[in-house]
Amino acid sequence: MIENNKLEEMIETIDLEGVAPTKEPLRQYYFIKKAREYVKEANNKLGRTLTYCVVNFGCQMNARDSEKLCGVFDSIGYLETTEDQADFVIFNTCTVRENANDKVYGRLGRLKPRKQKNPHMMIGLCGCMMQEGLVVEKLKNSYAYVDLIFGTHNVFKLAELICARFESGDMVIDIWEDTNKIVEDLPVERKYPFKSGVNIMFGCNNFCSYCIVPYVRGRERSREPIAIINEIEKLAKDGVKEVMLLGQNVNSYGKSLEPKMTFAELLEEVEKVEGIERIRFMTSHPKDLSDELIDVMAQSKKVCKHLHLPLQSGSTKILKQMNRKYTKKEYLTLAAKIKTAIPDISLTTDIIVGFPGETEEDFEDTLEVVRKVRYDSAFTFIYSKRTGTPAAVMENQISDEVVKERFNRLLKEVQTISAQVTCVHEGNTMDVLVEEVNTQDDSLVTGRLSNNLLVHFKGNADLIGTIVPVKLTKCMGFYYLGEQVNSEMKEA
Ligand code: SAH
Ligand code: SF4
Ligand code: F3S
Repeated sequence: MIENNKLEEMIETIDLEGVAPTKEPLRQYYFIKKAREYVKEANNKLGRTLTYCVVNFGCQMNARDSEKLCGVFDSIGYLETTEDQADFVIFNTCTVRENANDKVYGRLGRLKPRKQKNPHMMIGLCGCMMQEGLVVEKLKNSYAYVDLIFGTHNVFKLAELICARFESGDMVIDIWEDTNKIVEDLPVERKYPFKSGVNIMFGCNNFCSYCIVPYVRGRERSREPIAIINEIEKLAKDGVKEVMLLGQNVNSYGKSLEPKMTFAELLEEVEKVEGIERIRFMTSHPKDLSDELIDVMAQSKKVCKHLHLPLQSGSTKILKQMNRKYTKKEYLTLAAKIKTAIPDISLTTDIIVGFPGETEEDFEDTLEVVRKVRYDSAFTFIYSKRTGTPAAVMENQISDEVVKERFNRLLKEVQTISAQVTCVHEGNTMDVLVEEVNTQDDSLVTGRLSNNLLVHFKGNADLIGTIVPVKLTKCMGFYYLGEQVNSEMKEA
């Protein structure tokens, strides 16, 4: 990550009279400088500053991309505002489930009347949904008022694309099929001053049969450890206490690097960064979660006591059809091994109900795993047919009624267990990283435990970004009420 003053120095040296450099990130520095001129000109004409809003629909990976988009908007002179006020609205889309797509079309329709009234308004669409050919066709045909369409592989090109839009006055479309490029050192605007996502890898090679992500995020590529550590050191200097290492399957980090590096080795390097007090990561695929990683987690002072370990299904037969590459027994053995090595760990998961061919017996297997592992929480999803994935053409798609009924049964089971598991810390004193003033009661602040549970307790905005010991006085099912205690009174 480049520091702002260095970035400015680099941009300063760019000569706009010359042609745009071909090398990145220099090329983008050129277009940032050029876009600044266009924005300045528009601001002068308008008599006010143009505003923007990036709306995020997807996972943490998308959220991090959105921070990069915001960084470029800030850098070229736009002011951030809310969606209903913004001159430039960008939807950073997700396509993992059908209803994610529907949401975007709905929101897009609502922008049309605003665009007709405001001649300066621009609408951009990017993210995973844009990597699907049919979506882009539909947008071209039925949503001609969209100004800018780009995908997941060229988020770094925003300044260049904005310049192209200013110059052509027409819809700009730039979608890359795939990439092996990782462009570093562009501006980013963090949503929180005290915590940050850090990409460690992009793409996915697993091709779970229901999942669209490998098609829209491309092949797996890991960032160089030195770039990751540099970024985290700069974040720490900037006051960040907690980093979330991001990848679709962090356990396969470093396999394609020269020399190779494992995810556990990377964690050990991140642990050494002074100022960073908490390390989280997302997501871990059970098939290649190593003993080495469990050891590092067990010994680490900074890696949080939380592991998100997506199960998807508890049936070995369905897991095979999902191409998950583990069995029910292997998953249970792994979960037990993790709990033995790290007794206070919180396990969370993702589960899909109604995958094609799922019988009552298969579903019972899922319930059994839920009962045995006793997750702190679980994201439960109804299977969604994604055109282009192998599962979409499988026979025996399950009827809506059956899926709904199973989904409700699963949810009840998950919630009952979660309420019991969550409450085991009642009465203990644990460290809380304070995140915000409570949105409902401003005499309270809200923060997170290492295991990711939320705690509300008396305090004010000065505490935001600090880690304080809090006695967990009352468990409320999915969160705690607590009281801050003096540091000396804290238990180990
Ligand atoms: N890389 C992560 C998951 C990314 S997608 C992993 O492997 O765990 C997040 C979650 O969305 C998945 O874990 C899965 O539970 C869910 N999901 C993905 N495709 C889906 C589909 N077609 N229908 C329903 N849920 C889906
Ligand atoms: Fe999708 Fe599987 Fe890759 Fe996760 S690991 S993103 S579920 S294909
Ligand atoms: Fe969605 Fe793309 Fe993430 S499809 S879940 S935003 S990788």
